[in-house]
Amino acid sequence: MRKLLATTALAAVALMALSGCSTRTDTTGGSTAAAGFPADSVIGVALPSKTSENWVLAGGLFEDGLKTAGFKGDVQYAGASTTVKDQQDQISAMVTNGAKVIIIGAADGGQLGTQVKAAKDAGATVIAYDRLILNTPDVDYYVAYDNFKVGELQGQALLDGLASRKAAGPYNIELFSGSSDDANSAVFFNGAMSILQPKIDDGTLVVASGQTDIKQTATAGWKAENAQSRMDSLLTSTYGDKALDGVLSPNDTLARAIITSVKAAGKPIPIVTGQDSEVESVKSIMAGEQYSTINKDTRLLVAQAIKMAQALQKGEAVDVNDTKSYDNGVKIVPAYLLPPVIVTKANAAEAYANDPKLSPLTK
Ligand code: BGC
Repeated sequence: MRKLLATTALAAVALMALSGCSTRTDTTGGSTAAAGFPADSVIGVALPSKTSENWVLAGGLFEDGLKTAGFKGDVQYAGASTTVKDQQDQISAMVTNGAKVIIIGAADGGQLGTQVKAAKDAGATVIAYDRLILNTPDVDYYVAYDNFKVGELQGQALLDGLASRKAAGPYNIELFSGSSDDANSAVFFNGAMSILQPKIDDGTLVVASGQTDIKQTATAGWKAENAQSRMDSLLTSTYGDKALDGVLSPNDTLARAIITSVKAAGKPIPIVTGQDSEVESVKSIMAGEQYSTINKDTRLLVAQAIKMAQALQKGEAVDVNDTKSYDNGVKIVPAYLLPPVIVTKANAAEAYANDPKLSPLTK
């Protein structure tokens, strides 16, 4: 998905080089909002269930930020059990309520085609937030942290952590990935494997279970209990008399579940990666348990999404800085990508210096 090298991509690169800057406005089409709309319009925000802290934070930030911007915000979460149907119904209701922009953190990126088509038919602009919406022409923009980069940073952190414990390999590792209904999961995994695969190939890393396929490493629903039970099984099947040196975990919730499993088995905690800078994981990193996380400041991502809505309201062009990476199966979705930051105990104080919630944890 990331590596789409076609003439369009080359043209986009050439255009960016010509313009001499990395941020440019969208000229690739997709937006129908050139005319703008009333400043107090409804802006819908459909978020998935609260599988990680970032989603919990996003809801409140959207409520406040949309209000401050003068919009009528309609912020909804999909429930935990009927996530997909909930979200489909919520988006349909936003369309009926006349939302001019619908910002969607997809519960299942492959199952919103009907709803986003209805949104477009009604004249709304659709923005995919954090997770791409797949297999539909009816998504106008994507705003997210650079997901491939997240994976690369996780892969590199795993290598760095392993080297900090033991100067040379081979190191025994296991791989975990996210939920297969989230388009991000494969991008995170592919980013990480772009760093790890060469080290698996040269024998520095050994995936002792042999489970390297994303189908084997996936964690349904991003649920902690699923990661924990897979780790339990791996420990039993593979690590009876073997040391487990490291685990690639795609996020913090799963990292803590993996650590819980290892502790329960009475084994030393391996190098475990993460993502999201969740409070409990930052504490764990400072206590020397989880090795790394990723800072994807939700405040900045929500602010960028609201900025897009404001540009659309005024009938101005929307800022994008990537027009080649996110092919959703039907089109390349113009994206604004923010840079993720790797965090370990060594740079936590610096990384969270501007975060009043996390900064005190690093003191
Ligand atoms: C987000 C991650 C999050 C995961 C589970 C992903 O789509 O990008 O930040 O950890 O969903 O909620």
